[in-house]
Amino acid sequence: MLDKTKNGTRIAAVIATIRQRIAGRSLTAGDKLPSIRAFARALQVSTSTVVEAYDRLAAEGVIQARAGSGFYVASQAVPLALSEIGPKLDRAVDPFWVSRQSLDAGGDDLKPGCGWLPPSWMPDDGIRRALRTLSRTDGPSLADYGTPLGLPPLRQLIARRMGDHGIDASPDQIMLTESGTQALDLLCRFLLEPGDTVMVDDPCYFNFHALLRAHRARIVSVAYTPTGPDIEQFAKALQEHRPRLYITNSAIHNPTGAMLSPVTAHRVLKLAEQAGLTIIEDDIFADFEHVPAPRLAAFDGLDRVVHIGSFSKTLSASARCGFIAARPDWIEGLIDLKIATTFGGGRLTAELVLNVLRDGSYRKHMEGLRHRLSRAMAEVNARLKNLGLVPWIEPQAGLFLWSRLPDDLDSADVARQALADNIVLAPGNVFSLSQSASSFLRFNVSQSQDERVFAALRKAIARKR
Ligand SMILES: Cc1ncc(COP(=O)(O)O)c(C=O)c1O
Repeated sequence: MLDKTKNGTRIAAVIATIRQRIAGRSLTAGDKLPSIRAFARALQVSTSTVVEAYDRLAAEGVIQARAGSGFYVASQAVPLALSEIGPKLDRAVDPFWVSRQSLDAGGDDLKPGCGWLPPSWMPDDGIRRALRTLSRTDGPSLADYGTPLGLPPLRQLIARRMGDHGIDASPDQIMLTESGTQALDLLCRFLLEPGDTVMVDDPCYFNFHALLRAHRARIVSVAYTPTGPDIEQFAKALQEHRPRLYITNSAIHNPTGAMLSPVTAHRVLKLAEQAGLTIIEDDIFADFEHVPAPRLAAFDGLDRVVHIGSFSKTLSASARCGFIAARPDWIEGLIDLKIATTFGGGRLTAELVLNVLRDGSYRKHMEGLRHRLSRAMAEVNARLKNLGLVPWIEPQAGLFLWSRLPDDLDSADVARQALADNIVLAPGNVFSLSQSASSFLRFNVSQSQDERVFAALRKAIARKR
């Protein structure tokens, strides 16, 4: 039966359901609404509830009654409202809310829940040197569009770096994008029809949920284990839901910090082949690894696996630059989509990234960064353990620690309380399609070293006890 809205009635819940369908465009202008009797049966409410809901929406002009024919969605265009698509989530565990809090946070706010390093941990000397070099170059680099695939020497360099992870790709199989997010967006445009099913890990990076909503995809999830997706669930979901795509991180999984094992990688690929599944392997944290994890794209030879990356986490999130590596016969279609949606790529940022990567100091910077992160991981983990938070695993690398709160504390409540102290936390259910991670928080160890973070957690725990 349709639940009442938090502060309302069943009528309000029926109205909210219709509004959601209109906002999510499963009902568009001119569409006929279900008959009162059918809708009442589907929602398990009385017909008088639906009559009242339809009347109120008609009074607002959202829907129109046509004599003898029923109710129709009014013809005014309704802008897409992503937050209305999919299950309506508490604002504290809504992916858009967490992203906005982190992106909007002021200088004095703390962001242990965000997914990036503090600016002072980034290679700013290298960026400055690259900017000085660029300021002395001639016209095209500063003012012209980039080529459709993007700067050739940067694509060559990316191909070499992928080779270090066993992925065999020619520079012509690599297309530069504005970011990892844009790489994913283009691939969704390329591979999905609205209504297609996409599989993600549970938990997974929350913007996968947000982006897939924008593509009107149906999302299903499989539990993630310390060595990759749960293979039994994976096989079952393939049979039950026939997803078109699976999106995952093999190297340093967001939010758990886990790494795919070779055995799981082989099983995933075998099942994918049987089911005709395409996999997007999002490798954005590659440079944080101490020891390379197996890559699906390496085992598969970029056949049914598409590999994406970006430089936001290790070089600069301000100079937006990412890439897609895909099978050769897909590149033409991806170029057309890139031209249709962005026209030319950001040539200046590609030049900047190339200059920083070529600068000998980048490798040294990353070496120092990996060690700095290891120290921060040990320190933050020890402090959290002292408060009773238990890590799901001890991550081998990266910036994320996925920790369980003690005493059945709800991480959304803790996040709400922390926000009052200007601390942005990332509650577990933001990452979980099944909403089964309410006791987890994701900590970014590079942003979690301030005593105020632990004081806020201590306060939340004490309040519960
Ligand atoms: C797994 C993953 N993929 C993609 C992104 C987005 O990267 P970009 O800034 O390149 O769009 C993030 C950012 O947090 C991420 O964690």
